[in-house]
Amino acid sequence: MPKLNENYLNLKESYLFSEIAHRVAAYTAANPDKKVIRLGIGDVTLPIGNSIIKALHEGVDAQASADTFKGYGPEQGYDFIRDAIVAYYEKNGVTISPKEVFVSDGAKSDTGNITDLFAQDNVILIPDPVYPVYVDTNIMNGRNITYMNATAENNFLPMPDKNLHADIIYLCSPNNPTGAAYNYEQLKEWVDYALENDAILLYDSAYECFITDETLPRSIFAIEGAKKCAVEFCSLSKTAGFTGTRCGYTIVPEALQFTSSDGREMSVNAMWNRRQTTKFNGVSYIIQKGAAQVFSEEGMAECRANIQYYQENARIIAECMDKKGIRYFGGINSPYIWFECPMGMESWEFFDYMLNQIQVVGTPGAGFGSNGKNFFRLTAFGSRENTVEAMKRFETLF
Ligand SMILES: Cc1ncc(COP(=O)(O)O)c(C=O)c1O
Repeated sequence: MPKLNENYLNLKESYLFSEIAHRVAAYTAANPDKKVIRLGIGDVTLPIGNSIIKALHEGVDAQASADTFKGYGPEQGYDFIRDAIVAYYEKNGVTISPKEVFVSDGAKSDTGNITDLFAQDNVILIPDPVYPVYVDTNIMNGRNITYMNATAENNFLPMPDKNLHADIIYLCSPNNPTGAAYNYEQLKEWVDYALENDAILLYDSAYECFITDETLPRSIFAIEGAKKCAVEFCSLSKTAGFTGTRCGYTIVPEALQFTSSDGREMSVNAMWNRRQTTKFNGVSYIIQKGAAQVFSEEGMAECRANIQYYQENARIIAECMDKKGIRYFGGINSPYIWFECPMGMESWEFFDYMLNQIQVVGTPGAGFGSNGKNFFRLTAFGSRENTVEAMKRFETLF
């Protein structure tokens, strides 16, 4: 009999979205005449831009002729896309090298797979509430987690505790689920803390494209010293509508080095390269062709138009919260609006209340961690029509 990884027994049932689906299905079965509006799941709804679709088609066509056909490609990604990503960073004032760019099938895989590089006995800091992948992938590996409280009191942006030593720190900015985004000074504190503690920052930048406030950093590498202590995970899911198409990239600086127990220098870039070339055979050429077009002027303009559409939805939701006098976070540099459940309700109670009273579905904050239990997440990824209608109904709620 195989001895199974019993750490899986320690995972909490991932029941958030299935429980939402179950409650909505029960409600619709009982109330077939009511139109339910879903502003819960963080998936995009607008189609991919024309020039990006054209590039995807070109990728397909290339596979039809012997002289352009592509078999296995470089596991790290083709030069054309690694160079395009380097140029994109350069435009944002950050210099990286193509060897530091690893193209992947998305940030979920990479934020999970990075755990391969770390030993068991690390002190791991993860915010609560949080994108659940960081927690579950560490539990699968049998690691202990120390939670950092993200609360209204710290604007859902936990800062380093100088009295606590950590080895690995997960940060996500702009944040899912809270929509909060760190500024330069705050990230500088994290970088200084990581350097002082010889720690690594695992920085999830999946929502970077939603940053509109020019004073906010779009990359951890905009902070001095970060190349010595951080890895950055990025995604085209929200940037370019690639949630179903799948492509992301991870930046692992060559300067990121730690000392082994017997005194040897270990390069995180070399380890990640080794991990990826061993366990991953790269993103398909077709997808990389489309993804590279995202970084062209035309592709970026198409992506920006879609993002602006979602940002307007976010503004409409935020305006409604303002009108109702509800305290909320996010919505400006993020597609998520994270608000305090009215009337002292807990988040599942408020979920049922909204569903029953106005037939609007969101995500209960409790699903992201215990500090979310009195908060609720709405997303700006719905259609304009549904967002406007949902907020009209919300205004009548209490
Ligand atoms: C914070 C965060 N990181 C990563 C991801 C996953 O990104 P991808 O679609 O590239 O796997 C998500 C998706 O919702 C997310 O919210």
